[in-house]
Amino acid sequence: MDERNIFVTAHPRIGPVLATELTSLGFKVEKTENMGVYATGTFTDAIRMNLYLRSANRVLLRLIQFKAGSPEELYTKAKNFEWENVLSPQGYFSVQSSVRNTSIKDNRFANLKLKDAIADRMKDKTGARPNSGPLYDASVIFLYWHDEDVIIYYDTSGETISRRGYRKNPFKAPMNESLAAAVLINTGWDGAEPFVNPMCGSGTVAIEAAMISMNKAPGLLRQNFSFMHHRQFNSKIYRMLRNQAIVNTYARPKAKIIATDINPLAIKAAKENAKAAEVARYITFNVCDFRETEVPGHKGVVFLNPEYGKRLGEEENLKNIYAAIGDFFKQKCSGYKGYVFSGNPELAKSIGLKTSGRTEFYNGKIDCRLLEFELYVGSLREM
Ligand SMILES: C[S@@+](CC[C@H](N)C(=O)[O-])C[C@H]1O[C@@H](n2cnc3c(N)ncnc32)[C@H](O)[C@@H]1O
Repeated sequence: MDERNIFVTAHPRIGPVLATELTSLGFKVEKTENMGVYATGTFTDAIRMNLYLRSANRVLLRLIQFKAGSPEELYTKAKNFEWENVLSPQGYFSVQSSVRNTSIKDNRFANLKLKDAIADRMKDKTGARPNSGPLYDASVIFLYWHDEDVIIYYDTSGETISRRGYRKNPFKAPMNESLAAAVLINTGWDGAEPFVNPMCGSGTVAIEAAMISMNKAPGLLRQNFSFMHHRQFNSKIYRMLRNQAIVNTYARPKAKIIATDINPLAIKAAKENAKAAEVARYITFNVCDFRETEVPGHKGVVFLNPEYGKRLGEEENLKNIYAAIGDFFKQKCSGYKGYVFSGNPELAKSIGLKTSGRTEFYNGKIDCRLLEFELYVGSLREM
């Protein structure tokens, strides 16, 4: 298949991390945006992206691009496209969209127009109309329609890449998998030095760390992607790419990975999730207060994602926790790089140590910061 334009989507603010990932995997990055990256590649490249990318949401393969000012024009132009080369008449497809056009008040109407165009074309050319509906487990078509500009993509992922499939027990407020991976990539952790994760909750960050350290492609955990339902999908090529990803995986992580939480139910959930991700035996889990967490040697990364305190009365108590994180860093983590991921800048001040870096993220809709602390021996408290 020809080289095509690919748009890889991501959560807001993750575009730059995703661009780094794509480049290090050898893909050509054309343009980086806040919520995604334009790249060039083939259908096979899109499969590789789905297998290997950690910080992405979806890999969209461009099918057609045109101008449309009205739903009728969208219908006519979309119907001219050779959908019979993309979809199977016996298959199932759904339409998702991002629409900003004055003729459209409800996205669902634009989706319906596109659905009709596709189904009518299929009926004309093949005599059969594929089923369509709201599920993302078969072919997914993505409509971008802003002003007059229409781009129609084949969404090769379907369900977001973030859903690796290992989250069996979410426990409380788990971090999204792609966000956890993006945060880890942002720390620059090389996967070879120890990774210590007190307050691990459902274990997402530690699990992502284990997979990074083993060079394990996250897509290996998934059985179904939308690209498998594309007419040009070649299962032989897919098996070859999958086997290559398996061969590239190390037998075990290069680094020691430690995950602890004060709540035994959190550790229970984290263990279940790690088992589903096939990394449970490579993570040392422990139920303990974060201050009791083992921090081996004098080099590595220690990462905490404490609660942000949204409810009244929680903040006072959390102030003490954040201050204690500062003490923990000073007393037990010298030589390490310390990271705190938090959505509460006021509380973060209570850590009381000078930051050496801060990166903006969103956790859902919450404006968050990844704060970095270089924990030299004898770090000075801020005055
Ligand atoms: C925001 S959650 C972490 C979520 C995690 N990043 C995930 O993806 O699931 C904060 C965690 O800190 C734990 N925690 C709170 N106070 C603690 C303490 N003093 N010592 C250790 N863990 C604590 C809670 O049990 C909770 O699981």
